[in-house]
Amino acid sequence: MSYRLPDPALAALLRDMPKAELHVHIEGTLEPELIFALAERNQVDLPYADVASLREAYAFSDLQSFLDIYYAGASVLLHEQDFYDMARAYLARAVSDHVLHAEIFFDPQTHTARGVPMASVINGLYRACRDAERDWGISCTLILCFLRHLSEDDAFRTLAQAMPLRDRFIGIGLDSSELGHPPEKFARVFAHCRELGLHLVAHAGEEGPAAYVWSALDTLQVERIDHGVQAHQDEALMQRLARERIALTVCPLSNQKLQVFPDLALHNLPQMLDAGVAVTVNSDDPAYFGGYINENFEQLFAATGMGPRQAYQLARNSLEAGFVGEARKKAWVQQLDDCFVRNGFAAAIDAG
Ligand code: ADE
Ligand code: ZN
Repeated sequence: MSYRLPDPALAALLRDMPKAELHVHIEGTLEPELIFALAERNQVDLPYADVASLREAYAFSDLQSFLDIYYAGASVLLHEQDFYDMARAYLARAVSDHVLHAEIFFDPQTHTARGVPMASVINGLYRACRDAERDWGISCTLILCFLRHLSEDDAFRTLAQAMPLRDRFIGIGLDSSELGHPPEKFARVFAHCRELGLHLVAHAGEEGPAAYVWSALDTLQVERIDHGVQAHQDEALMQRLARERIALTVCPLSNQKLQVFPDLALHNLPQMLDAGVAVTVNSDDPAYFGGYINENFEQLFAATGMGPRQAYQLARNSLEAGFVGEARKKAWVQQLDDCFVRNGFAAAIDAG
């Protein structure tokens, strides 16, 4: 089901408001057209005849059914320039959606397992970030994710490979198949990353239970939770998230596509926001789930009936939950306030 906002003023506000994107997998921004272009450039065979038949395969029943296709799509990435081109395309999109700051996830094991050097991955992505900052003024950082279906030893090896480029990523995440791979499987490697001064996040409570969110907080000591929508099942957890202002990076269209919620109208984001949890809106894997961040905002608001007050709170949460200094956050919130005033929604600021 796809939703459109009937109110053009609210639609314009959602589009124009400054925001941060804190949950986007760069491999999930690989559009089918770019997959085919890179396949040709790199002479990689794809098990799909053309762009249309690849798109037709994007009918997912759960997280695993998506991941199988997502890892196949990433197989066309071989050289530093491929990683650069992919990130450059995403950042151009993010700028047009008024994203001021993006913290981009990447999955190095997906590439190093195919013989791609770690330096090609990180240098390509990092150069795209620096060029986007220079060309468009967007702020952009990288978060290296461990694949949780692989072993902790593999995560340690991956970290060691990335250490010569330690200054090029700011944090560590945990993604891939959640069920059966609880956060505590990675307790030691996360403890080591914390000692290295890296920021820590983890996917938890997407398909997995609220217990995985507790474990991500207490065992891994993460600073934000990616997804976290299953926390809603656990009142004590909800109270803790609200009290400690732990941000959740929620991805509405992803949740609908992967059947976490059968329909956007049933999404629990409005209730989580009402309960005082620092929820944010993000795109996850926009090339696969039917939309970038502004599309997530528009469809979510159309499906749930939220208004300008919630728009302000969500954008503000995103700008305040980034891993940047307080002065930059303050300047970004000022830009947000100015946008709401300019669009005639000043009342939403005071209500927030
Ligand atoms: N990798 C890319 N997208 C993901 C998601 N939604 N959950 C877990 N791992 C992912
Ligand atoms: Zn994700």
